[in-house]
Amino acid sequence: MSFRYFAGYSLLFLARLLGKGLAQMRRVISLPQQFALIIWTPSEIDRYSRDDWNGWPTVQIFVRAEHWLDAMEQALVERYFSKNGELLNLACGAGREALLLAKRGLRVTACDWSPRMVAEARRRAQEAELPIRLALADMYHLPYHDEAFDYMLLTNIVYSYVFPRWRRVRFLRQAHAVLKPGGVFIISFVPARGNPRIPAGPSEWLFMRLRRWAPFNREYEPGDRLEGTFVHYFRSEELAQEFQEAQFLVKEWLWDQRYAVLVKL
Ligand SMILES: C[S@@+](CC[C@H](N)C(=O)[O-])C[C@H]1O[C@@H](n2cnc3c(N)ncnc32)[C@H](O)[C@@H]1O
Repeated sequence: MSFRYFAGYSLLFLARLLGKGLAQMRRVISLPQQFALIIWTPSEIDRYSRDDWNGWPTVQIFVRAEHWLDAMEQALVERYFSKNGELLNLACGAGREALLLAKRGLRVTACDWSPRMVAEARRRAQEAELPIRLALADMYHLPYHDEAFDYMLLTNIVYSYVFPRWRRVRFLRQAHAVLKPGGVFIISFVPARGNPRIPAGPSEWLFMRLRRWAPFNREYEPGDRLEGTFVHYFRSEELAQEFQEAQFLVKEWLWDQRYAVLVKL
């Protein structure tokens, strides 16, 4: 073996070693953030997430997003939504998909829990002269009557932002109620696959023990994370069970693409 080959190989080895060390350090650094989860109650987690989504810098990012759909959203919309009918766009943000789908011919109702996001979506809808009905509402209390919609859309992994499990199932049951029979719900979430820390990991192990005691968050579950905002990483059986409890039929399961298509029978 030449000296040059050995020197190059040593550098590569050193780079890998440093990379592993940094990954471990990142894990340790994120621990204090994770601890908030085991201390806060569900309403405190909500309060933090809502304030975070309502912050100007975040709202501005979504306002700058033009009316567009990514390739996956586009494909699903083409496949499952017709060009007319009643659509409920949940967690609509500043109106990215609501504006586009209203232009496409659907009668769009949209809601979000951030007052600033809703105000921006309303402003953009007025500017574009699109008759979108907008409401300030969180996903746990949908202000719509039964069987009002043909379609529902929840993009951008937002189902994973709901904490804890009983609230997710309550939300799904409400979604089921406001859909017409035969109605379609395109929903997005974060799958745990591909992330080796989930559900295992030192914080998970510790939190599952702490949650037995009263001052701690008893609703903490494996897969819960604080990553800027609250996110739940799903295992596939767990997600399928939640859909089933709300009596949705899974029409298409796009696990790797972070989407599922649900139907109300
Ligand atoms: C990633 S943004 C997506 C916005 C829009 N759908 C888009 O893709 O451009 C997430 C949105 O979900 C909203 N959101 C998060 N949790 C919510 C909840 N529990 N109820 C209502 N809106 C919620 C936030 O306010 C934010 O506008």
